[in-house]
Amino acid sequence: MDLKTLEKFFLQRQSCRDFAETPLSHETVEGICRAALLAPSAVNAQPWKLLVPEGEKFKEVIDLITAEGRRPFVKRAQAIVVVCEDVRGRTFNFGGNHVPNPYIENDIGILTAHLILAAKAAGVGSCILGWKNETALHPLLGIPQDVLIPELVALGYPAENTIREKRRKPLSEGLSFLR
Ligand SMILES: Cc1cc2nc3c(=O)[nH]c(=O)nc-3n(C[C@H](O)[C@H](O)[C@H](O)COP(=O)(O)O)c2cc1C
Repeated sequence: MDLKTLEKFFLQRQSCRDFAETPLSHETVEGICRAALLAPSAVNAQPWKLLVPEGEKFKEVIDLITAEGRRPFVKRAQAIVVVCEDVRGRTFNFGGNHVPNPYIENDIGILTAHLILAAKAAGVGSCILGWKNETALHPLLGIPQDVLIPELVALGYPAENTIREKRRKPLSEGLSFLR
């Protein structure tokens, strides 16, 4: 793929907040996650796990995410990927000193970016849902509280295919060449 094609692809990836009712197959979701898990991470630590609730568990997760009228569009999501950040016992060797891995959050961001771009490549819409400090999901998914859930990704085919214009800072604010 050349850069122009890639940039056009990036321009067309957008957060989807209107999902069609068309179901997403297990294989499609698995394929998107498999591609995402090729993401790079510091010292290749891969401090993550993707959880995809299915069946009754999926319905319970949707109910939790949309409780009290929050994020109503998520009711029509066809899959939810729970992005787990596993900080337990992860250390990083800085010149012989073992310190907590300072790059785990970066790694999770890169993984999530891979995930939404993989979804786009599969023709699937996505929306990242920030999930900081919300612990109610843990018991539902049966995961320990010290495994963090920084975000969820809602997936589904877009209800319509209009591409919004990207609202981004001017290039001169985001990029400088220095001499
Ligand atoms: C870490 C993170 C958390 C986000 N959380 C939410 C969210 O809770 N709800 C939502 O509708 N969009 C959420 N978004 C999507 C952003 O609002 C969106 O990416 C941004 O406005 C740019 O729009 P675009 O993705 O369509 O290019 C989140 C994005 C990121 C990266």
